[in-house]
Amino acid sequence: MDRTGTEPHGPAGPTASAERRPRVFSGVQPSGDLHLGTYLGALRPWTERQDARENVFCVVDLHAITVPEAIDPARLRDKCREVAALYLACGIDPDRSTVFVQSHVREHAELAWLLNCTTPLGWLYRMTQFKSKSEGRDSVSVGLLDYPVLQAADILLYDTDLVPVGEDQVQHVELTRDIAGRFNRLFGDTFRLPKAEIPKSGARVMGFDDPEVKMSKSLARERDRHAVPLLADEKRIKKTVMSAVTDSGREFRPEHAGPGVRNLLGVHASLTGDAVDELAERFAGGGYGDLKKAVLGAILDALGPIQERYRELADDPAELDAILAKGAERARTTAAETMARASAAIGVGA
Ligand code: TRP
Repeated sequence: MDRTGTEPHGPAGPTASAERRPRVFSGVQPSGDLHLGTYLGALRPWTERQDARENVFCVVDLHAITVPEAIDPARLRDKCREVAALYLACGIDPDRSTVFVQSHVREHAELAWLLNCTTPLGWLYRMTQFKSKSEGRDSVSVGLLDYPVLQAADILLYDTDLVPVGEDQVQHVELTRDIAGRFNRLFGDTFRLPKAEIPKSGARVMGFDDPEVKMSKSLARERDRHAVPLLADEKRIKKTVMSAVTDSGREFRPEHAGPGVRNLLGVHASLTGDAVDELAERFAGGGYGDLKKAVLGAILDALGPIQERYRELADDPAELDAILAKGAERARTTAAETMARASAAIGVGA
Protein backbone atom coordinates (compact mmCIF):
# COMPACT_ATOMS: atom_id res chain seq x y z
CA MET A 1 0.00 0.00 0.00
CA ASP A 2 1.21 3.46 -0.78
CA ARG A 3 1.57 5.02 2.62
CA THR A 4 2.70 8.45 1.59
CA GLY A 5 -0.87 9.54 1.30
CA THR A 6 -0.22 11.46 -1.89
CA GLU A 7 -2.09 8.98 -4.04
CA PRO A 8 -4.98 7.67 -2.01
CA HIS A 9 -6.91 4.75 -3.36
CA GLY A 10 -9.85 2.55 -2.48
CA PRO A 11 -13.10 1.70 -4.19
CA ALA A 12 -14.55 5.16 -3.93
CA GLY A 13 -11.16 6.79 -3.71
CA PRO A 14 -9.97 9.56 -5.97
CA THR A 15 -8.26 7.15 -8.37
CA ALA A 16 -9.77 8.76 -11.41
CA SER A 17 -7.75 11.78 -10.41
CA ALA A 18 -4.96 11.09 -12.88
CA GLU A 19 -6.91 12.85 -15.61
CA ARG A 20 -8.92 15.33 -13.68
CA ARG A 21 -8.16 19.01 -13.40
CA PRO A 22 -6.52 20.16 -10.17
CA ARG A 23 -9.21 20.55 -7.56
CA VAL A 24 -9.32 23.77 -5.61
CA PHE A 25 -11.11 24.43 -2.34
CA SER A 26 -11.34 27.73 -0.57
CA GLY A 27 -13.63 29.42 1.87
CA VAL A 28 -14.53 32.79 3.29
CA GLN A 29 -16.12 33.36 6.67
CA PRO A 30 -19.47 35.16 6.69
CA SER A 31 -18.24 37.72 9.19
CA GLY A 32 -17.38 41.33 8.48
CA ASP A 33 -17.55 42.93 5.05
CA LEU A 34 -15.77 41.55 2.02
CA HIS A 35 -13.49 44.25 0.67
CA LEU A 36 -11.25 45.16 -2.21
CA GLY A 37 -8.44 43.02 -0.79
CA THR A 38 -10.66 39.92 -0.83
CA TYR A 39 -11.67 40.71 -4.39
CA LEU A 40 -8.19 41.30 -5.83
CA GLY A 41 -6.43 38.70 -3.71
CA ALA A 42 -9.01 35.92 -3.76
CA LEU A 43 -12.31 36.21 -5.60
CA ARG A 44 -11.01 37.60 -8.87
CA PRO A 45 -8.08 35.17 -9.19
CA TRP A 46 -10.52 32.34 -8.42
CA THR A 47 -12.80 33.39 -11.22
CA GLU A 48 -9.93 33.61 -13.68
CA ARG A 49 -9.05 29.94 -13.37
CA GLN A 50 -12.52 28.47 -13.36
CA ASP A 51 -12.02 26.48 -16.53
CA ALA A 52 -8.53 25.22 -15.76
CA ARG A 53 -9.59 23.81 -12.42
CA GLU A 54 -12.37 22.10 -10.55
CA ASN A 55 -13.43 24.67 -8.01
CA VAL A 56 -15.24 24.31 -4.74
CA PHE A 57 -15.99 27.61 -3.00
CA CYS A 58 -17.58 27.56 0.39
CA VAL A 59 -19.08 30.07 2.79
CA VAL A 60 -17.73 28.74 6.05
CA ASP A 61 -20.44 29.58 8.57
CA LEU A 62 -19.42 26.86 11.03
CA HIS A 63 -16.10 28.66 11.40
CA ALA A 64 -17.91 31.92 12.07
CA ILE A 65 -19.50 30.58 15.27
CA THR A 66 -16.25 29.73 17.06
CA VAL A 67 -16.46 33.00 18.99
CA PRO A 68 -19.92 32.63 20.55
CA GLU A 69 -19.98 36.16 21.95
CA ALA A 70 -20.02 37.43 18.37
CA ILE A 71 -22.94 35.33 17.14
CA ASP A 72 -26.06 37.11 16.00
CA PRO A 73 -28.18 34.34 14.44
CA ALA A 74 -30.25 36.46 12.06
CA ARG A 75 -27.22 38.42 10.95
CA LEU A 76 -25.23 35.24 10.41
CA ARG A 77 -27.83 33.97 7.95
CA ASP A 78 -27.89 37.28 6.11
CA LYS A 79 -24.11 37.41 5.96
CA CYS A 80 -23.95 33.90 4.52
CA ARG A 81 -26.23 34.91 1.69
CA GLU A 82 -24.33 38.14 1.21
CA VAL A 83 -20.98 36.36 0.85
CA ALA A 84 -22.48 33.76 -1.48
CA ALA A 85 -24.10 36.47 -3.61
CA LEU A 86 -20.80 38.35 -3.72
CA TYR A 87 -18.98 35.25 -4.91
CA LEU A 88 -21.41 35.12 -7.80
CA ALA A 89 -21.43 38.87 -8.40
CA CYS A 90 -17.64 38.82 -8.65
CA GLY A 91 -17.83 36.29 -11.44
CA ILE A 92 -17.88 32.84 -9.89
CA ASP A 93 -20.13 30.88 -12.16
CA PRO A 94 -22.23 28.30 -10.31
CA ASP A 95 -22.36 26.14 -13.42
CA ARG A 96 -18.59 25.83 -13.52
CA SER A 97 -17.80 26.05 -9.80
CA THR A 98 -19.45 24.51 -6.79
CA VAL A 99 -20.70 27.26 -4.49
CA PHE A 100 -22.30 26.33 -1.19
CA VAL A 101 -22.66 27.02 2.51
CA GLN A 102 -20.59 24.80 4.79
CA SER A 103 -23.35 23.99 7.29
CA HIS A 104 -25.61 22.75 4.47
CA VAL A 105 -23.28 19.78 4.00
CA ARG A 106 -23.19 17.84 7.25
CA GLU A 107 -20.12 15.87 6.34
CA HIS A 108 -17.95 18.85 7.29
CA ALA A 109 -18.85 18.56 10.97
CA GLU A 110 -18.90 14.79 10.77
CA LEU A 111 -15.42 14.42 9.32
CA ALA A 112 -14.12 17.02 11.76
CA TRP A 113 -15.10 14.61 14.55
CA LEU A 114 -13.08 11.73 13.12
CA LEU A 115 -10.13 14.03 12.62
CA ASN A 116 -10.51 15.37 16.18
CA CYS A 117 -9.92 11.87 17.41
CA THR A 118 -6.69 11.41 15.49
CA THR A 119 -5.20 14.89 15.93
CA PRO A 120 -2.93 15.52 18.91
CA LEU A 121 -4.05 18.47 21.01
CA GLY A 122 -0.53 19.89 21.01
CA TRP A 123 -0.76 20.54 17.26
CA LEU A 124 -3.69 22.88 17.85
CA TYR A 125 -2.13 24.81 20.71
CA ARG A 126 0.72 25.68 18.37
CA MET A 127 -1.46 27.47 15.80
CA THR A 128 -0.58 31.17 15.71
CA GLN A 129 -4.13 32.17 14.81
CA PHE A 130 -5.44 30.38 17.90
CA LYS A 131 -2.82 32.11 20.01
CA SER A 132 -3.69 35.55 18.71
CA LYS A 133 -7.48 35.02 18.81
CA SER A 134 -7.42 33.64 22.35
CA GLU A 135 -4.99 36.18 23.72
CA GLY A 136 -6.40 38.29 26.50
CA ARG A 137 -9.69 36.36 26.68
CA ASP A 138 -10.80 34.80 29.96
CA SER A 139 -12.38 31.92 28.16
CA VAL A 140 -12.43 30.58 24.64
CA SER A 141 -14.64 27.92 23.10
CA VAL A 142 -13.42 24.42 22.29
CA GLY A 143 -14.47 25.33 18.74
CA LEU A 144 -11.91 28.11 18.52
CA LEU A 145 -9.12 25.68 19.31
CA ASP A 146 -10.67 23.10 17.01
CA TYR A 147 -11.16 25.57 14.14
CA PRO A 148 -8.20 24.23 12.09
CA VAL A 149 -9.49 20.65 12.32
CA LEU A 150 -12.79 21.76 10.81
CA GLN A 151 -10.80 23.56 8.14
CA ALA A 152 -8.88 20.34 7.49
CA ALA A 153 -12.21 18.51 7.11
CA ASP A 154 -13.36 21.14 4.59
CA ILE A 155 -10.28 20.63 2.49
CA LEU A 156 -9.93 16.84 2.76
CA LEU A 157 -13.58 16.07 1.98
CA TYR A 158 -13.09 17.16 -1.63
CA ASP A 159 -9.74 15.45 -2.34
CA THR A 160 -8.40 18.93 -2.78
CA ASP A 161 -5.09 19.55 -4.54
CA LEU A 162 -4.76 23.29 -4.05
CA VAL A 163 -5.96 25.67 -1.38
CA PRO A 164 -5.70 29.32 -2.42
CA VAL A 165 -5.28 31.27 0.81
CA GLY A 166 -3.50 34.28 2.21
CA GLU A 167 -0.19 33.96 4.03
CA ASP A 168 -2.02 33.87 7.39
CA GLN A 169 -3.71 30.57 6.50
CA VAL A 170 -0.65 28.66 5.32
CA GLN A 171 -0.09 27.17 8.77
CA HIS A 172 -3.62 25.75 8.69
CA VAL A 173 -3.04 24.13 5.31
CA GLU A 174 0.25 22.65 6.52
CA LEU A 175 -1.61 21.31 9.54
CA THR A 176 -4.20 19.80 7.20
CA ARG A 177 -1.41 17.86 5.50
CA ASP A 178 -0.16 16.66 8.87
CA ILE A 179 -3.65 15.63 9.95
CA ALA A 180 -4.24 13.79 6.68
CA GLY A 181 -0.82 12.14 6.80
CA ARG A 182 -1.36 10.89 10.31
CA PHE A 183 -4.81 9.50 9.52
CA ASN A 184 -3.41 7.76 6.45
CA ARG A 185 -0.56 6.23 8.46
CA LEU A 186 -2.89 5.00 11.16
CA PHE A 187 -5.78 3.73 9.04
CA GLY A 188 -4.53 3.35 5.49
CA ASP A 189 -4.54 5.78 2.63
CA THR A 190 -7.70 7.76 2.78
CA PHE A 191 -6.93 11.39 2.11
CA ARG A 192 -5.15 13.29 -0.59
CA LEU A 193 -2.56 15.77 0.69
CA PRO A 194 -3.32 19.37 -0.38
CA LYS A 195 -0.97 22.28 -0.97
CA ALA A 196 -1.46 25.95 -0.16
CA GLU A 197 -1.44 28.37 -3.06
CA ILE A 198 -0.46 31.88 -2.06
CA PRO A 199 -1.33 34.81 -4.31
CA LYS A 200 1.46 36.80 -5.95
CA SER A 201 2.63 39.68 -3.79
CA GLY A 202 1.12 42.12 -6.30
CA ALA A 203 -2.31 40.76 -5.47
CA ARG A 204 -1.91 41.86 -1.87
CA VAL A 205 -3.89 44.98 -1.08
CA MET A 206 -2.68 46.91 1.95
CA GLY A 207 -4.76 49.05 4.30
CA PHE A 208 -5.45 52.53 2.90
CA ASP A 209 -4.97 54.02 6.35
CA ASP A 210 -1.93 51.87 7.13
CA PRO A 211 -0.08 50.47 4.13
CA GLU A 212 2.19 48.34 6.31
CA VAL A 213 -0.61 45.88 7.04
CA LYS A 214 -2.74 43.79 4.74
CA MET A 215 -6.30 45.06 4.25
CA SER A 216 -8.37 43.02 6.68
CA LYS A 217 -11.98 42.52 7.69
CA SER A 218 -11.17 42.78 11.38
CA LEU A 219 -9.30 46.10 11.05
CA ALA A 220 -12.08 47.38 8.79
CA ARG A 221 -14.51 46.85 11.64
CA GLU A 222 -12.61 49.31 13.80
CA ARG A 223 -11.45 51.87 11.25
CA ASP A 224 -13.60 53.15 8.41
CA ARG A 225 -10.67 54.46 6.39
CA HIS A 226 -8.93 51.13 6.32
CA ALA A 227 -10.73 49.14 3.66
CA VAL A 228 -13.06 49.59 0.71
CA PRO A 229 -16.00 47.23 1.30
CA LEU A 230 -17.26 45.74 -1.95
CA LEU A 231 -20.78 46.93 -1.21
CA ALA A 232 -19.88 50.44 -0.03
CA ASP A 233 -21.49 53.45 -1.69
CA GLU A 234 -19.57 56.01 -3.65
CA LYS A 235 -19.36 58.53 -0.82
CA ARG A 236 -17.87 56.00 1.54
CA ILE A 237 -15.37 54.74 -1.02
CA LYS A 238 -14.36 58.29 -1.85
CA LYS A 239 -13.74 59.10 1.79
CA THR A 240 -11.47 56.10 2.22
CA VAL A 241 -9.50 56.50 -1.00
CA MET A 242 -9.07 60.27 -0.79
CA SER A 243 -7.78 59.99 2.77
CA ALA A 244 -5.33 57.19 1.94
CA VAL A 245 -1.87 57.50 3.40
CA THR A 246 0.70 58.68 0.85
CA ASP A 247 4.19 60.14 1.25
CA SER A 248 5.10 63.44 2.78
CA GLY A 249 5.60 66.30 0.33
CA ARG A 250 3.09 67.49 -2.21
CA GLU A 251 4.31 66.02 -5.39
CA PHE A 252 4.43 62.42 -6.48
CA ARG A 253 8.03 61.33 -7.05
CA PRO A 254 8.04 57.72 -8.24
CA GLU A 255 11.65 57.11 -7.23
CA HIS A 256 10.75 57.87 -3.61
CA ALA A 257 7.39 56.14 -3.54
CA GLY A 258 6.63 54.77 -0.08
CA PRO A 259 4.29 51.88 0.78
CA GLY A 260 1.08 53.95 0.65
CA VAL A 261 1.77 55.23 -2.84
CA ARG A 262 2.94 51.83 -4.02
CA ASN A 263 -0.30 50.36 -2.70
CA LEU A 264 -2.37 52.92 -4.62
CA LEU A 265 -0.42 52.23 -7.80
CA GLY A 266 -0.76 48.50 -7.22
CA VAL A 267 -4.52 48.72 -6.78
CA HIS A 268 -4.87 50.86 -9.90
CA ALA A 269 -2.69 48.49 -11.93
CA SER A 270 -4.51 45.45 -10.68
CA LEU A 271 -7.92 46.90 -11.53
CA THR A 272 -7.12 48.39 -14.92
CA GLY A 273 -4.37 46.09 -16.16
CA ASP A 274 -2.03 49.06 -16.69
CA ALA A 275 1.61 48.49 -15.72
CA VAL A 276 2.76 50.03 -12.42
CA ASP A 277 5.77 51.69 -14.10
CA GLU A 278 3.62 53.22 -16.75
CA LEU A 279 1.21 54.56 -14.13
CA ALA A 280 4.08 55.95 -12.07
CA GLU A 281 5.28 57.81 -15.12
CA ARG A 282 1.79 59.09 -15.89
CA PHE A 283 1.31 60.58 -12.42
CA ALA A 284 4.90 61.67 -11.77
CA GLY A 285 5.22 65.33 -10.88
CA GLY A 286 1.51 65.71 -10.13
CA GLY A 287 -0.17 65.93 -6.72
CA TYR A 288 -1.22 62.87 -4.80
CA GLY A 289 -4.81 64.02 -5.26
CA ASP A 290 -4.63 63.19 -8.96
CA LEU A 291 -3.36 59.71 -8.28
CA LYS A 292 -6.06 59.14 -5.67
CA LYS A 293 -8.77 60.38 -8.00
CA ALA A 294 -7.61 57.99 -10.67
CA VAL A 295 -7.57 55.11 -8.19
CA LEU A 296 -11.03 56.10 -7.02
CA GLY A 297 -12.25 56.05 -10.61
CA ALA A 298 -10.75 52.62 -11.21
CA ILE A 299 -12.38 51.27 -8.04
CA LEU A 300 -15.79 52.70 -8.88
CA ASP A 301 -15.58 51.32 -12.43
CA ALA A 302 -14.74 47.87 -11.13
CA LEU A 303 -17.26 47.78 -8.30
CA GLY A 304 -20.16 49.26 -10.25
CA PRO A 305 -21.04 46.11 -12.21
CA ILE A 306 -20.33 43.89 -9.19
CA GLN A 307 -22.75 45.88 -7.04
CA GLU A 308 -25.33 45.80 -9.80
CA ARG A 309 -25.15 42.00 -10.10
CA TYR A 310 -25.20 41.75 -6.34
CA ARG A 311 -28.40 43.77 -6.15
CA GLU A 312 -30.07 41.58 -8.76
CA LEU A 313 -29.24 38.50 -6.71
CA ALA A 314 -30.29 40.15 -3.47
CA ASP A 315 -33.62 41.03 -5.09
CA ASP A 316 -34.26 37.42 -6.04
CA PRO A 317 -33.75 35.33 -2.90
CA ALA A 318 -35.37 32.28 -4.45
CA GLU A 319 -32.78 32.24 -7.21
CA LEU A 320 -29.91 32.45 -4.72
CA ASP A 321 -31.48 29.71 -2.60
CA ALA A 322 -31.76 27.48 -5.64
CA ILE A 323 -28.12 28.07 -6.58
CA LEU A 324 -26.96 27.29 -3.03
CA ALA A 325 -29.14 24.19 -2.81
CA LYS A 326 -27.70 22.90 -6.07
CA GLY A 327 -24.19 23.72 -4.89
CA ALA A 328 -24.71 21.87 -1.61
CA GLU A 329 -26.11 18.88 -3.44
CA ARG A 330 -23.13 18.73 -5.74
CA ALA A 331 -20.69 19.19 -2.85
CA ARG A 332 -22.44 16.45 -0.89
CA THR A 333 -21.87 13.88 -3.59
CA THR A 334 -18.10 14.10 -3.22
CA ALA A 335 -18.19 14.78 0.52
CA ALA A 336 -20.31 11.69 1.18
CA GLU A 337 -17.88 9.49 -0.74
CA THR A 338 -14.91 10.73 1.23
CA MET A 339 -16.85 10.45 4.47
CA ALA A 340 -17.76 6.85 3.70
CA ARG A 341 -14.13 6.06 2.93
CA ALA A 342 -12.90 7.66 6.17
CA SER A 343 -15.61 6.01 8.25
CA ALA A 344 -14.82 2.61 6.78
CA ALA A 345 -11.12 3.12 7.39
CA ILE A 346 -11.62 3.88 11.07
CA GLY A 347 -14.36 1.31 11.59
CA VAL A 348 -17.52 3.34 12.13
CA GLY A 349 -20.66 3.92 10.09
CA ALA A 350 -23.28 1.59 8.75
N1 TRP B 1 -9.80 29.94 7.89
C1 TRP B 1 -10.04 30.58 6.61
C2 TRP B 1 -9.90 32.09 6.79
O1 TRP B 1 -10.23 32.62 7.82
C3 TRP B 1 -11.40 30.24 6.08
C4 TRP B 1 -11.50 28.78 5.73
C5 TRP B 1 -12.23 27.84 6.36
C6 TRP B 1 -10.84 28.15 4.66
N2 TRP B 1 -12.09 26.62 5.75
C7 TRP B 1 -11.24 26.80 4.72
C8 TRP B 1 -9.95 28.58 3.68
C9 TRP B 1 -10.72 25.85 3.82
C10 TRP B 1 -9.45 27.64 2.78
C11 TRP B 1 -9.84 26.30 2.85
O2 TRP B 1 -9.52 32.75 5.84
